[in-house]
Amino acid sequence: NTVESGNYTWASPSNIALVKYWGKKAYQIPENPSVSFTLDACKTVTTLSFTKKKNDGMFSFDVYLEGKRQDDFKPKIQTFFERIELYMPFLKDYHFKIETANTFPHSSGIASSASGMSALAMCLMSVEQELLTPVSGTDETFLKNNYRIQKASFLARLGSGSACRSIEGSLVVWGAHPSIEGSSDLYGIKYPYKVHDNFKDYHDTILLVDKGEKQVSSTVGHNLMYNHPFAQERFNQAGSNLSRLIAVFESGDLNTFIEIVESEALTLHAMMMTSTPYFILMKPNTLEIINKIWAFRNHTGIPVCFTLDAGANVHVLYPDKVSDQVIEFVKNELAVHCQNGQYICDSIGFGAKPV
Ligand code: PMV
Repeated sequence: NTVESGNYTWASPSNIALVKYWGKKAYQIPENPSVSFTLDACKTVTTLSFTKKKNDGMFSFDVYLEGKRQDDFKPKIQTFFERIELYMPFLKDYHFKIETANTFPHSSGIASSASGMSALAMCLMSVEQELLTPVSGTDETFLKNNYRIQKASFLARLGSGSACRSIEGSLVVWGAHPSIEGSSDLYGIKYPYKVHDNFKDYHDTILLVDKGEKQVSSTVGHNLMYNHPFAQERFNQAGSNLSRLIAVFESGDLNTFIEIVESEALTLHAMMMTSTPYFILMKPNTLEIINKIWAFRNHTGIPVCFTLDAGANVHVLYPDKVSDQVIEFVKNELAVHCQNGQYICDSIGFGAKPV
């Protein structure tokens, strides 16, 4: 092809799982279906610049985070390119410069792999589009094309599993589930059924309890589910929790929502505590916060709950109608348990956008 050079920029958000993905088969295929809220404020903005080079059988790329060269990101991207080359056959014809920045503080303990890999996948989709056909219409119209969204999500999955749930919003299912039409192990889909207004403007306030390096990378974490004594039970449970959520999303039943979401978070951590080797990723402040959320909910009846990812930070989830009370509670009672009092106010969003 004749395209010599160019660049594309995409912003893509993080997401927070309600039913957790933990355990995978080969080729980034999840052991169980998962569902997440796409976030809004926590995003990665990535510019991908490409320049034609001789195809010498090698990938060629440099990575910059907030303007600084980041060679330690290269192995992950090398693996990503190897996995997707079959679907993006032009990769060895270009040198790529990947410039990336996060809207959330670096090393905040917030995983940037979902937002980062989905932003990169969207940039590559734009390059592909330019190489295959002359650009016609806007990126907005290109995004509406369902097949291309599926392919973007498919590619993102090969970068980091949960990244496939960040292309769209606001509720995304990844993993084949018999009661969810169109669901697939290969890519995320927008939740296809009725969603009650209670879930329309959900908030996620992320309490930064421990901003250190992740103690267990998610690659190591997923591998702990091989030969895990409770693995099969857990995979089945995730499927039935997702079935129960279908009814909850329709009815708006916040009590059942809370019960499922908190149980999923604690089960994820229970899997890590009962694997070989075993890990405790919660910190004393994680437990302080959970206990305070329970006491506050019992006392006020306000439907606020928590979830966790594979770390010590706590995601506080609540509907828009109670947001004033919950923000006050976070400020007055929970912020003291955060590192340097830091937390991030986010809410559900709508996926990747061209910049
Ligand atoms: O996408 P990965 O491989 O980084 O795994 C993410 C796993 C959890 O965040 C713990 C759960 C999830 O479903 O997002």
